[in-house]
Amino acid sequence: MNFLYKQIIRRLLFQINPELIHDLMISFAVFFQRFDFICSIIGFVCKTKAEPVEIKGIKFQNRVGLAAGFDKDCSAAKIMSKVGFGFLELGTITLRPQPGNPKPRLFRLPEEQAIINRMGFNNIGAKAAAKNLEKIGKIDIPIGINIGKNADCPLEDAASNYLQSLEILYPYGDYFTLNISSPNTKDLRALHETEKFKNLIEPILNFVNSKPEKKPVFIKISPDIETSDLENISKMALEMNFGLIATNTTVRRDVLKKDYGDIQGGLSGRPLKELSNDILKKTVALADGKTPIMASGGIVNCKIAAEKLELGADLLQVYTGLIYEGPFFVKDILKYISNSK
Ligand SMILES: Cc1cc2nc3c(=O)[nH]c(=O)nc-3n(C[C@H](O)[C@H](O)[C@H](O)COP(=O)(O)O)c2cc1C
Repeated sequence: MNFLYKQIIRRLLFQINPELIHDLMISFAVFFQRFDFICSIIGFVCKTKAEPVEIKGIKFQNRVGLAAGFDKDCSAAKIMSKVGFGFLELGTITLRPQPGNPKPRLFRLPEEQAIINRMGFNNIGAKAAAKNLEKIGKIDIPIGINIGKNADCPLEDAASNYLQSLEILYPYGDYFTLNISSPNTKDLRALHETEKFKNLIEPILNFVNSKPEKKPVFIKISPDIETSDLENISKMALEMNFGLIATNTTVRRDVLKKDYGDIQGGLSGRPLKELSNDILKKTVALADGKTPIMASGGIVNCKIAAEKLELGADLLQVYTGLIYEGPFFVKDILKYISNSK
């Protein structure tokens, strides 16, 4: 199957504009998930034995999840839940719908097993996303909802912007991620700075703590984070009881083998691995075994997935690897992890 994907299907797909293919895939997924028998067949083909794991009171079917950005509008969760993932992170969702950055904004770098994107949180907005999730109903794996800030929202108003999205989406997620690390929304990464971060996280946690059902919050950090910010956020994670996702995409280009010219955006895939692992190691050390950590960044083969778990990640998230390795990548990772125990 992998051979078929890499030798034929991927070659065909890679002839076509990346964003167009992605949108087509999502449209197919949304169409086909209406048929329960199709979901069941996919579920049967992709099923692998894997150990469930409980983190922050959530039972994850296995440790491998879908990273944010693949299903930005929370529209294809039903079928994606059948591909073998232990959980899905949907979004990024912003309070109000927004078109994102001008196209082209998605670029493949096949020689590097990488992608550069500057999508800029194109999404249908929190209310419409909530409607999609309502329509899909309960699925049998946990759902994380990733929330971001509207591009036209000033940084001073970020907390209220995130909070309003959280209020709308709260009934639909098992956990929530605050995305403060996309390089494609101007100044977003400034939210890593201690004072700004405090102003964001406090009202979010106050809201969660006011609810009868307290759902976990994760912060998705940048691989380009300053060490002092990482130390402060990790300290607050311990004190305030939230989890961390290490990491989002990088704006660095010195990790590439070749010069691809000035393609602005966040780099993901294999070249991100070392940077992301470096932050993961530091985060694990600072977390003192108490803060739950998801690892995202550069998982393009099973060995890298296993390496991240060895470094101390509790859960993994994949995106670019899925594009290069195909739909059976999750199953392959799970088998590899189970065999290497
Ligand atoms: C096309 C594309 C869109 C993305 N959109 C988002 C997003 O909306 N929100 C987010 O938190 N991360 C987003 N990401 C980052 C991924 O979730 C992931 O953290 C990053 O790509 C590193 O993992 P990878 O190397 O496995 O791709 C996006 C990545 C790609 C390639």
